[in-house]
Amino acid sequence: MEKVANRSHMRGLALWLIMIIKLLIVLSACSAELIPARKLLKEADSNPPEVQLLISDHRVVIDNGLVQVTIENPSGHLTGIKYKGMHNVLERRNENDNKGYWDVVWNDNVYDKLAAKHVKVITQTDDLVEVSFTKKWKFATDHRYSVPLNVDKRFIVRRGVPGLYMYSILERQEDFPEAYMFQIRIAFKLKEDKFRFMATSDTIQRIMPTAEDRDDSRSQVLAYKEAVLLTNPTNPELRGQVDDKYQYSCENKDNKLHGWISDDDAVGFWIITPSDEFRTGGPHKQDLTSHVGPTALSMFVSTHYTGTEIDVFYKEGEAWKKVFGPVFIYLNSASPDDDYRKTLWDDAKRQLNEEIENWPYNFTQSDDFPHAEERGVVEGQLLVRDRYMDKELMQAQSAFVGLAAPGYAGSWQTEGKGYQFWTQTDKAGRFSIKKVRPGEYNLYAWVHGFIGTYKLDLNITIEPGNKINLGTLIYDPPRNGPTLWAIGIPDRTAAEFFVPEPDPTFVNPILNDDEDAFKQYGLWDRYSDIYRHSDLVYTVGVTNYSRDWFFAHVPRNIGNASNWGTTWQIKYNLQDVNETGRYTLQLALAAASYAEVQVRFNNPDVIQPHFTTTRIGYDNVVARHGIHGLYRLYSIKVPGNRFQKGDNTIFLTQPRSQGSFNAVLYDYIRLEGPAV
Ligand SMILES: *[C@@H]1O[C@H](CO)[C@@H](O)[C@H](O)[C@H]1NC(C)=O
Ligand SMILES: *[C@@H]1O[C@H](CO)[C@@H](O)[C@H](O)[C@H]1NC(C)=O
Ligand SMILES: *[C@@H]1O[C@H](CO)[C@@H](O)[C@H](O)[C@H]1NC(C)=O
Ligand SMILES: *[C@@H]1O[C@H](CO)[C@@H](O)[C@H](O)[C@H]1NC(C)=O
Ligand SMILES: *[C@@H]1O[C@H](CO)[C@@H](O)[C@H](O)[C@H]1NC(C)=O
Repeated sequence: MEKVANRSHMRGLALWLIMIIKLLIVLSACSAELIPARKLLKEADSNPPEVQLLISDHRVVIDNGLVQVTIENPSGHLTGIKYKGMHNVLERRNENDNKGYWDVVWNDNVYDKLAAKHVKVITQTDDLVEVSFTKKWKFATDHRYSVPLNVDKRFIVRRGVPGLYMYSILERQEDFPEAYMFQIRIAFKLKEDKFRFMATSDTIQRIMPTAEDRDDSRSQVLAYKEAVLLTNPTNPELRGQVDDKYQYSCENKDNKLHGWISDDDAVGFWIITPSDEFRTGGPHKQDLTSHVGPTALSMFVSTHYTGTEIDVFYKEGEAWKKVFGPVFIYLNSASPDDDYRKTLWDDAKRQLNEEIENWPYNFTQSDDFPHAEERGVVEGQLLVRDRYMDKELMQAQSAFVGLAAPGYAGSWQTEGKGYQFWTQTDKAGRFSIKKVRPGEYNLYAWVHGFIGTYKLDLNITIEPGNKINLGTLIYDPPRNGPTLWAIGIPDRTAAEFFVPEPDPTFVNPILNDDEDAFKQYGLWDRYSDIYRHSDLVYTVGVTNYSRDWFFAHVPRNIGNASNWGTTWQIKYNLQDVNETGRYTLQLALAAASYAEVQVRFNNPDVIQPHFTTTRIGYDNVVARHGIHGLYRLYSIKVPGNRFQKGDNTIFLTQPRSQGSFNAVLYDYIRLEGPAV
């Protein structure tokens, strides 16, 4: 660090002077986009100014005339982003390690903010500056105090681009001690009195409560600390609303753009994630976006909506290295007279598309981030064979097909250490997975409308420039006989089932769209309101599952903070029963949390159930307002003598009732007759 810093120090002094002069010019003019006089002589007006770098003892400043980024030296904490009239879009009053920072939650839920010890200039041209903040983990000094990781945090500012790119290379050496790393992310704490309007999708955009509104004096904590009822918010219009950061979660595949707007300045702050190759758990893993603070997160690793079933444990002797990011922190501004919120959001979406176009970025300098020509392509076509549905092969339309670390068919859901690359098939089932990093993978897929997970029994090794055509692949979903009846749609969610209206005293009004209805607070309690004295009964051919199959199998609240396990019934009629035939109950679950499903046929009182999942799941999906967590499929064999001609009943008991959130979400249930 010393060498680099000294060399840059001289240059730094000179540049500080230029900057001060520039500041004076800016102050004396009305335009914030004034180009330094020096530049005007050299270049046409339309050319944006060159990127400047200043390194002093305590900070590193990168300035491209559009944004001025300040990073603490040598910790690598982002402490300032100056943009337009905003001196700092980050919260000035916070400590330097609490404005824009990486953190890892490791053993015993301790946070490590990955403070670096050295700074190094990687690239410095007129067009781009890349700076690296590093730290090597050492047993003698770091053991017990900091997460066993070598850290390299990178910042890039480009000429003419209003924002900064951030990525990080995290590494474990073989001799590092074992550790859990439950969460890895970047957090941004924005200027509290400015950023009040949050946008996480086309429809979820709203004025948010303030951090203060969540204080005891202004709100009431609900069933857990993350959820509060705003009783006396600073903005009286928000009185009576629920606030909970988990209501703004979304799936990895959709978690590409979110952020905040300062209404005073008509300025937007956005986190743009053009690829989710470095996130864990596959395309459907859900995670946080932005929430009250104002906070904006770039989540890379977490146990949200999966629990610790996702792989976050690193053994001693397990070497590992991974690049997280780059993500792009984008700033934009609009004329305050316009419909500026819409202008800013639309412009941020346009920028997202531009970043996706440019992915993988070609301007990063880390050898660990392969550029386009160093990546590969895997393509093919996926068909489905299920003769009980169609004599012909079926095209796997809009199927999710992906590459992830080698494992069993469903392993990508809980895969937490490698890279994953997913795409969706076209109408003919064709897929092309592009921009794949070199490495060893298995190919996995799941198809809307079919149960189970496909895995190609082949290890796929990607080398730079590879294009692999796998030809036609055929998926045989689990199937043992014809469908006698089915409930739901095999799509890995409970979204098609009955999602009740929230209790009117616990509403978040932005979640009014049907597709967000499951994100409302307290829906689990509505089960006990609707089914006060007896449990859900579903009659095949009569009941409509979208109206009457409650989306979550929860315990019944029996008052005074007690719950009881519940038993749901499926009634159906069998004209014929083959006493010696082998039937199958396909039971697909969309989520499970400290729960169990016991299955009994026709007699609810037998002590030993025909089948039990045993206690499963830690995804906490009901409390986190998810419509799915981890997918599970049970193919339960049932001998014909369990059935009777005429009326039959299946009893599904969820006996676990330590809390309101012991629950499963069903995805799909199907009874199959004997093979014909
Ligand atoms: C990098 O990518 C951009 C956008 O695709 C392109 O315009 C530029 O020529 C590329 N630069 C290099 C050095 O490949
Ligand atoms: C595929 O890779 C896995 C994990 O690296 C390995 O255990 C397995 O033996 C490989 N299978 C084949 C067929 O090479
Ligand atoms: C089931 O209910 C939904 C929602 O009310 C409705 O759209 C659908 O048409 C119903 N299906 C049948 C078969 O009645
Ligand atoms: C409420 O709790 C008390 C004390 O544990 C118990 O005696 C009573 O039966 C409970 N009430 C209900 C409705 O379960
Ligand atoms: C009943 O099932 C058995 C075993 O699968 C099969 O051999 C037999 O043909 C079936 N009987 C009828 C009447 O379908």
